[in-house]
Amino acid sequence: MNDGFLHRYFLNNAHKRQHKWVHYFDIYERHLERFRGTSPVMIEIGVMGGGSLEMWKEYLGAGSHIIGIDINPECKAHQADGIDIVIGSQDDPAIIDEIFSKYPRIDIVLDDGSHMMQHMISSFELLYHRIHSNGVYMVEDTHTCYWDEYGGGAGRKGSFVEYVKNKLDEINAVHSRGAIPVSEFTRSTDCIASYDSVVVFERRRQGSRQAPITEPM
Ligand SMILES: C[S@@+](CC[C@H](N)C(=O)[O-])C[C@H]1O[C@@H](n2cnc3c(N)ncnc32)[C@H](O)[C@@H]1O
Repeated sequence: MNDGFLHRYFLNNAHKRQHKWVHYFDIYERHLERFRGTSPVMIEIGVMGGGSLEMWKEYLGAGSHIIGIDINPECKAHQADGIDIVIGSQDDPAIIDEIFSKYPRIDIVLDDGSHMMQHMISSFELLYHRIHSNGVYMVEDTHTCYWDEYGGGAGRKGSFVEYVKNKLDEINAVHSRGAIPVSEFTRSTDCIASYDSVVVFERRRQGSRQAPITEPM
């Protein structure tokens, strides 16, 4: 159950610098609650002051591992017990390979990195298919999809939100009478949840489809 842990933690922050939109906490808890106490492994793209890495560690509990990716070498200072920092750009396949060679099972990804369109898409394509089959992939601050300086713009080709709109078709591909190819994304995705400034992908194998009719005896 959502117990408001993350929002309380943020308000009582006695540790490192953090910057979050308040309405994100409820979204995080809705999608991450099931991982608490299960020793999950999480990647957060974008470390900055390191505060959110500590928050995830406390929230997810003992045995969890948090891996922060940041382009700024100073972020290495936030490495700690259960918190690993990898320096490099989020769209560099070599650092993603390095992470998977050390942590073969990744349960959760949160992209809070550059928020540039091409980076958001590249990270998704590098990571999504490699995370656990019941994992979660979240992208935040997707309001940049509407901002020119991030490569966005309303309806602009190449924006992450336009990319997600195509994924909505892909999740329904089996019903498209061949118009949309059934992909590994189709087979492995249960849900796309789109909120104000956050998109969440829940992985789960799509099951056999049944549509029985029941009637009163
Ligand atoms: C919004 S801040 C992260 C905030 C942090 N997650 C928090 O909640 O406190 C964004 C971070 O992304 C990093 N960044 C920018 N471009 C990047 C890239 N191409 N690859 C990885 N990190 C990047 C910046 O150095 C910055 O620390």
